[in-house]
Amino acid sequence: MDLKPFKKPIYITRPILPNLQAMQDKLKQIWITKWLSNNGYQHRLFEREIQKVLKVPCVSLFNNGTIALLTAVRALNLSGEVITTPFTFPATPHVLSWNNIQPVFCDIDPVSLTIDANKIEKQINKKTTAILAVHVFGNPCNIYKIQKIASRYNLKVIYDAAHAFEVELNGIGIGNFGDLTMFSFHPTKLFHTAEGAALTGKKHELKKKVDLLKNFGIKNEEEVVEIGINGKMNEIQAALGLLVLKIKNKERMKRKLLCATYRNCLINTEGISILGEESNIKNSYQYLVIRIDQKKFGRSRNFIYSKLKEYNIFTRKYFYPLCSNFPYYKNHKSSGSKNLPEATKAVEEVLSMPFYGELKVVDIEKICTILKNLKTK
Ligand SMILES: Cc1ncc(COP(=O)(O)O)c(C=O)c1O
Repeated sequence: MDLKPFKKPIYITRPILPNLQAMQDKLKQIWITKWLSNNGYQHRLFEREIQKVLKVPCVSLFNNGTIALLTAVRALNLSGEVITTPFTFPATPHVLSWNNIQPVFCDIDPVSLTIDANKIEKQINKKTTAILAVHVFGNPCNIYKIQKIASRYNLKVIYDAAHAFEVELNGIGIGNFGDLTMFSFHPTKLFHTAEGAALTGKKHELKKKVDLLKNFGIKNEEEVVEIGINGKMNEIQAALGLLVLKIKNKERMKRKLLCATYRNCLINTEGISILGEESNIKNSYQYLVIRIDQKKFGRSRNFIYSKLKEYNIFTRKYFYPLCSNFPYYKNHKSSGSKNLPEATKAVEEVLSMPFYGELKVVDIEKICTILKNLKTK
């Protein structure tokens, strides 16, 4: 096999895009209506479609996932402290801080890399109002245990499912758990609307409140009943979403094949494991994450990350650094590495690999061969 660097850069992901003519036709429809935002035709249609795809009772669309999470925190009247994971994208703890809430970091499970439900209880005190857990890389959290704890201590639960579009647990859409769940439609995700998001839940009353909050709290032309924000998805985003829905299954199938290729190529490589893929979970096929055990592989994750760049292969050290190490969070008592041993270890070992449908099986085979050639043990 030719192991010279790739001629063109191999990125970690590439967005799927619908046929340009189809998008132009959609734009024409929007131009005719002259309705660009505020619950227009495309928005109403898209909200209904997303509800079906995610198999949830209620959906509210948003302009991005961060504003959706901010709104979820407000809609549930959270305050004081909220227990969350340090192994996530900065938006997760930031939405708490923006609501004047202290994020309290809890360690993660070493296999799923989601919040370790067995370690949540010891972080609960009188100020705790909720758990904000993340289905990181599309791996579902221990939702049944989390719900038990939440019920026992009367806490709310928000799931950040930015990575978990279409994930199902035993056939149940992942957006049915907890009080509210956020799905991000950023273009780094398999399904996207350029920027965008959805909040899902089971209670229609809560959806009403979320819809009010994302539109400045405006009830009618004469009453503004909540301190809201502008979280609305516009018509162009919704139209793009309707078209991307039509092509996402094809992309899922391509990624399924690439995922199997990564597994086949790396299965016998000591020191490298691939995250995810359990039989009762429908995969989001959003990330392809490997974990490198330096003792067995002979090389560190950081070495591999840098070395792959020389071959024009661009991986990402998601989610390095841990959020608990950010300057404004690091002095909190929950942020010490003694409280977060598994997160501290994982963040040095995981690497997100190139994973998108445009890649060919031979590209993945070459990436894996280059990777395996770096092994020294
Ligand atoms: C875990 C997680 N939460 C929240 C977000 C924020 O979502 P958005 O980019 O749609 O604001 C992201 C990033 O995309 C994420 O990865």
